[in-house]
Parts: sequence; C-alpha cells; structure tokens
Amino acid sequence: MTTAIQDLAPTPAPMTLYVCTTCRDADHVVGQGAPCAGARLFAAITAAPADPAITIVPVECLSVCKRTCAVSFAAPGKWTYVYGDMPAETAAETILLGAKMYAEAKDGLIPWKQRPDALKKGAVARIPALPSPAP
Ligand code: FES
Repeated sequence: MTTAIQDLAPTPAPMTLYVCTTCRDADHVVGQGAPCAGARLFAAITAAPADPAITIVPVECLSVCKRTCAVSFAAPGKWTYVYGDMPAETAAETILLGAKMYAEAKDGLIPWKQRPDALKKGAVARIPALPSPAP
C-alpha cells in the first residue's frame, strides 16, 4: 500500500515558544523562596510531552509584566505574537495547543474562530515578520 502525497499531514515549520520565567503572581503574593508564576508556567509547559516543531525558550521579561504570565510565538517568515494573562496553573495546555496551531499556519496567523479563547483575550501584540534579506 502506498501513501499519496495529499494523504500526508503537513509538516509544521519549527517555531519558538518564549515563556517569561520572571512573571510575578497577579496578586504579587508568593511564598518565600517559592517559584514565581512565570517559573511555574514554564515548568508546566516543559513537563508536557515534547513536540519537535516547538522549541521552548525561557526568557526574563517580555515587557508585559502587568498582564502576567506572558508568552510569545515566533518563527522565521511569520508574524510574531505576544500574549499575556496566562494563568500559571492552567494555561500550559492551551499555550501548547496554540503553539502547535501557529507552527502549522503558513504565516503564523491562526484563524480567529479556531483560536483558543485565552489567545483571543490575551493577545498583546502581533509583529510582522522581518523582510527576507535581499539575494
Ligand atoms: S516579568 Fe514577565 S513580562 Fe515582565
């Protein structure tokens, strides 16, 4: 039995999921020595099964500190997105789903109707892709 080209799922282009590991809890109440909200979100995201299309990179501050926790989706040739308001304890699955959708989207634009609600409400910025260098 052979598999036709059209039967194959598209291979998602690699993307980078940046996770702010220094976001504080929204109420700014963290126990002495306890990891901050961003660190907990990063731990939850990296505890999920790895996806070869998604490279997870910790960063210290995405300048969205008032909308804790913050993440960003980026890839060459695609729009870059910054999201905030991601709860540390519950957002990992949604973020990874959104990252997968972003990786599969040709230009990084996830159709609005398919976009998880947290990504609709949490969008902070979208930044156009850099122009390709002249040949
Ligand atoms: S500390 Fe997370 S965005 Fe600034």
